[in-house]
Amino acid sequence: MSNQNDQTDRENGGLNGVHAEGERSHNGHAPANGVYENGKGSTPDSQPRAEATFTPAQARYAQIVGWGYHVPSKVITNADLEQIVDTQDEWIRSRTGIEERHVAASPAETSASLGVLAGRKALDMADIHPNKIDLIICATSSPEHIFPSTASIIQDGLGASNAGAFDLSAACSGFVYALSMARGHILAGDAEYVLVIGAETLSRIVDWTDRTTCVLFGDGAGAVLVAASDVPGGIMASVLGSDGSGADLLTVPAGGSAIPASLESVNTGGHFIKMDGRAVFRFATRVMAEATTQVLAKAGLTVQDVDLVIPHQANERIIQNSVLKQLQIPAEKVFINLQKYGNTSTASIPIALCEAIEAGRVKPGDKLVFVGFGAGLTWAACAVEWRTPVEKPEANWWRNTQRQATYQAAAARSMWKRAIRRVYSQVLPTREERWDKNEE
Ligand code: COA
Repeated sequence: MSNQNDQTDRENGGLNGVHAEGERSHNGHAPANGVYENGKGSTPDSQPRAEATFTPAQARYAQIVGWGYHVPSKVITNADLEQIVDTQDEWIRSRTGIEERHVAASPAETSASLGVLAGRKALDMADIHPNKIDLIICATSSPEHIFPSTASIIQDGLGASNAGAFDLSAACSGFVYALSMARGHILAGDAEYVLVIGAETLSRIVDWTDRTTCVLFGDGAGAVLVAASDVPGGIMASVLGSDGSGADLLTVPAGGSAIPASLESVNTGGHFIKMDGRAVFRFATRVMAEATTQVLAKAGLTVQDVDLVIPHQANERIIQNSVLKQLQIPAEKVFINLQKYGNTSTASIPIALCEAIEAGRVKPGDKLVFVGFGAGLTWAACAVEWRTPVEKPEANWWRNTQRQATYQAAAARSMWKRAIRRVYSQVLPTREERWDKNEE
């Protein structure tokens, strides 16, 4: 294969039909809805650009073509926790399966900064430039702020100048919800590339004096790049669920509009995670099995067709009671890495996916199920037919250099834009001020 072909193949994520870099307006394919496309959405009134095409709607699929994760370097073991709260390594291992977790020890490590690093790895894996991304969805339970969205901060950090960005709040189910949204955008023809990120710094909202919660959670981020493709497979079906009657079972009560921050909310620990562990355990065990069964039926698959289940990594016993016992899926078809990370909420499934790939547990043609549950209460599952080669591609020097330069430039550009805004607001008079002067 020539270099040119090698390059094109990787741009396609190894999928011949994936709409690759530079192909957005020139791929000869109309979007699935059969409307004119000029790469950035024409209105019914607008004139199609010269290169726009119109052909009958054709099949379109959402393939995962890039993946990556990042966790902070600081590790807290169960033995470390024994020094902080009244707990024992044996209790934590036997009740949860967790042995250690990574925590964001440096103030510079935030949900967005972890998300940026995971996102870059996903783009490197797919060999896609950040300016090709149409949409960034950040699922997070520990956003940097109520607003702006953590996704917007990630968009700025990646230099993804053509991307829309929003946060998705569905707690630990958020990553699977976000995958479903990404699939929807792609199948509708609204996006060619969607970056889906789960990013958490839960250690910042955990009460380190509460042994019933602080032993469970960890920090980290995982990302996948979802691309439009005409190769059958990819994200085949999704199931999303919610039961808000259980909202109080797992919550950060204060800091929103219901209980705004106050001296009292801080003094009573209202900004920390509160949980009824047993009730969540019962709920999770039930919905993990139900959601998996439902999504397989939607995808036209049976439990026997499944090659690998990647469940939300909250508690090994939940996974055993639901996926293994209720669904009778054998342990070798279930990926578990929670012993190393604890429950990283939205990041747990993408981190587990990356490690499953590294461990050789995913190969093209495999049928995967991602299934999660969390506060809300919420639950979600996706069935995926994996089609992308899993070997790390040989880096294309030129495009890698372009990406790295964009990342460097992103920080400088962001600072420059902030400076310009400051100058405008301080030096230049506002329109109202100019009008006032004219009236005098
Ligand atoms: N170390 C030692 N003892 C602990 C402890 C800890 N870290 N945390 C709780 N205990 C104690 C309790 O105080 C209780 O003592 P008691 O019997 O004297 O009252 C005892 O252990 C049993 O507590 P219980 O809550 O019944 O334990 P459990 O078997 O249900 O396990 C969880 C607790 C939290 C591990 C389990 O309920 C769970 O994983 N639930 C789901 C949580 C989850 O996944 N949340 C995230 C959803 S995304």
